[in-house]
Amino acid sequence: MQFAATTETGVPIQGPTATLLYDDWYPALRTSQLRPGKMATATLLDIPLVLGRRADGRVFAMRDSCPHRGIPLSYGWFDGNRVTCRYHGWEFEPCGGQCALIPSLSTHDKLDATRIYATAYLCEERDGHAWVYIPSAGSGRKADGSALRAVPELAKFGSRYRTAHLFADLPCNVDHGIIGLMDPAHGPFVHQAWWWRSRASIRQKTKRFEPIAEGFRMSAHAPSGNSAPYKLLGVYGAPIETTIDFTLPNRRTEVIRAGDKWFSSLTTVTPVTASTCRIDVIAAWNVFYNVPFVTTIAKFFGAKFVRQDQVTMIQQAEGLRHNPSLMLIDDADKPAKWYFALKQARLDAFGPDAASTGAPPEHPMDGPVDLHWRS
Ligand code: FES
Ligand SMILES: [Fe+2]
Repeated sequence: MQFAATTETGVPIQGPTATLLYDDWYPALRTSQLRPGKMATATLLDIPLVLGRRADGRVFAMRDSCPHRGIPLSYGWFDGNRVTCRYHGWEFEPCGGQCALIPSLSTHDKLDATRIYATAYLCEERDGHAWVYIPSAGSGRKADGSALRAVPELAKFGSRYRTAHLFADLPCNVDHGIIGLMDPAHGPFVHQAWWWRSRASIRQKTKRFEPIAEGFRMSAHAPSGNSAPYKLLGVYGAPIETTIDFTLPNRRTEVIRAGDKWFSSLTTVTPVTASTCRIDVIAAWNVFYNVPFVTTIAKFFGAKFVRQDQVTMIQQAEGLRHNPSLMLIDDADKPAKWYFALKQARLDAFGPDAASTGAPPEHPMDGPVDLHWRS
């Protein structure tokens, strides 16, 4: 799915920006895009990146800019071990960014090329994502990830499972992408379909939420009886339990378990720039493991679902260009309010203007709470 720089009626989109959260891991691209000896580009938080896979299998992410004169390194060459700039041929080790060779240096030069570094980011491969750690400006080079937040990983419950990935570029800032993701009230309108739910099936729901570290959990519950896919899961006869977590900066995890059958997904809404974002859904499951075409079918319906959100957000972006004042109302928008409060708490504790008290970010919830809405 291509990013729409214009609306469907051809209006260019430039919506309001969002404050970005640094010092965390974001998915830059799918590692299946990394071919031997080739480089690929991506943008995270307005930072141009060049990524690749070294001959020994390790993935890397560098700022796509040569420290000499700033030409994108992605125009150069990569032999599986070193990235060579196409302008003056400086060579870099891509995981650490250290310069290995400056071809123009003569025997008269005292300059030690290995004291020069291109900007390299920590990059880890999990679940087919290249996760890149984006440090806040001026926080220094990160040599290794041991002292940092953990690399996100999709929960799996066994070794036999199928997987799928879906994504869509969204022409709105990350805050709108995230609150659109967690908003329960749009379901019957945006995702109307015979196989999901319709307006006619709207009914009142009560869900319990509890605070977790830098996020909140919709506590384990039996999923909506009015959703067809969940009905399908019921064929196994075991009680079904669903847990949905949201955690900063941008992650929604959902685990559905029924006896030894399970479905697990990790959805991220990643700031590409301050005013645009991308939604990625990775999923793994062992339900219907032996049914042929089930991955194809799941991807078909999943893609339709993501596309419905994408179309809505393209339309919303048309309205947001004019920077209207907006509302967060009632219990259905409560998760969105928690998100903004959690984000602000992280900025207050660790952001550029944080008073370094060492106190952990304050949580907006002081305990479990029931929310009610109709969807
Ligand atoms: S600009 Fe890259 S080597 Fe000169
Ligand atoms: Fe949606």
